[in-house]
Amino acid sequence: MPRQWYNLAADVPNDPFMGPDGPVPAEAWAPVFPMNLVEQEYSRERWVDIPEGILELLTRWRPAPLHRAYELEAALGTPARIYYKNESLSPAGSHKPNTAVAQAWYNKEFGIKRLTTETGAGQWGSALAFACSLLGMECKVFMVRISFDQKPYRKLMMQAWGGECIASPSTETQAGRAILEKFPDTPGSLGIAISEAIEAAVSDKSGQTRYSLGSVLNHVMMHQTIIGLEVKKQLEKAGEKKVDVVIGCAGGGSNFAGLAFPFVYDKINGADIDIIPVEPASCPTLTKAPYVYDHGDTAKMTPLVAMYSLGHNFIPPPIHAGGLRYHGMASLVSKAANEGLLRPLAIHQLECYKAGILFARTEGIIPAPETTHAIAATIREANKAKEEGKEKVIVFNFSGHGLMDLLGYDKYLSGELTNYDLPDEVIKKNLEDLAGYPMP
Ligand SMILES: Cc1ncc(COP(=O)(O)O)c(C=O)c1O
Repeated sequence: MPRQWYNLAADVPNDPFMGPDGPVPAEAWAPVFPMNLVEQEYSRERWVDIPEGILELLTRWRPAPLHRAYELEAALGTPARIYYKNESLSPAGSHKPNTAVAQAWYNKEFGIKRLTTETGAGQWGSALAFACSLLGMECKVFMVRISFDQKPYRKLMMQAWGGECIASPSTETQAGRAILEKFPDTPGSLGIAISEAIEAAVSDKSGQTRYSLGSVLNHVMMHQTIIGLEVKKQLEKAGEKKVDVVIGCAGGGSNFAGLAFPFVYDKINGADIDIIPVEPASCPTLTKAPYVYDHGDTAKMTPLVAMYSLGHNFIPPPIHAGGLRYHGMASLVSKAANEGLLRPLAIHQLECYKAGILFARTEGIIPAPETTHAIAATIREANKAKEEGKEKVIVFNFSGHGLMDLLGYDKYLSGELTNYDLPDEVIKKNLEDLAGYPMP
């Protein structure tokens, strides 16, 4: 296993957080995050040692296997060699525990007893509940209403690990009450749930509660790079000398960054690699939104972050890939895209589910709806390799299994799902809220 994480901020420094008085100093985060994680957030060190205590936790399920998708290749008749990194084998079923155990461990080191967080699809909430149970900490999760209703089993997983899970918007916070008053039937959004979780953390006067974010932040991207660093070693063992295409689905950006950033490092140093983050066509942050300064949450509790954003008030349509319904994108992923190091792609959900079904029937694993976006892009690339008659090496991140997301498959298989194109006017309207904000 790799013993260090890779920090892309050393090579592609992202723009600073911005507050009303200019760049936000590290100390300002003290009520929200423990200072050891804040230091990581601001770090420009390229390689960061993984503490022994975290390595021990990670070895419960890592290294994660890298599979060659022989059956999918055969079904497509492609000359491409397709590999996928199987992050679905973690106890919570996705890549999320890679940073959950790291964040819980750093918080515990700092003397924190209780973590609050938000969750979209429930994958992150269950990962943090799992991590907190390993470390004997308390965990409270605000789960986006639409997923809370669609995915009762994720809530039960959190409870089995000793976590508390409530639907967001809730009546427990000011942010939640304000939204409910205006939109009583809202499906919720990650932006709203983040506001609630931050408020719940900073309003605990005991000082023993902090907030934990499952994606978007620099330190989360860094914790996930263990994925790509393992993949590099595994590809070498498999005898591969060159990678042509690297693919990951992108919601907040963490599983994509985890696989891709070590390859972005190679690209910066001269390698010719096509690196593709894939998002839903109904929430097209990287492909249709501008690169701006915006808040990470709806209630504007976070400072401004330089990123591609559909606007902090954007409530995405309730597509089934709940983990990809976020108005913004990790600042580091945004910066890398802005520098031309990535080639973002948006795909509609029907193509994604079709790809997920083909994957399940060839490779055998039922992918999470989020993951199907990476598979759909992989299939497009494999078909392109076939047309061009090229033996490309394609690697994608199998970010999670879909065994808790079968309702989406039910809707797809019974023909109830439709595609949803986000009209340009809606995007334009939401971005009006950013008038007067600084530009990166
Ligand atoms: C399986 C899976 N993949 C991908 C994502 C998207 O998040 P991120 O872009 O941070 O990897 C999620 C989020 O919940 C998820 O559960």
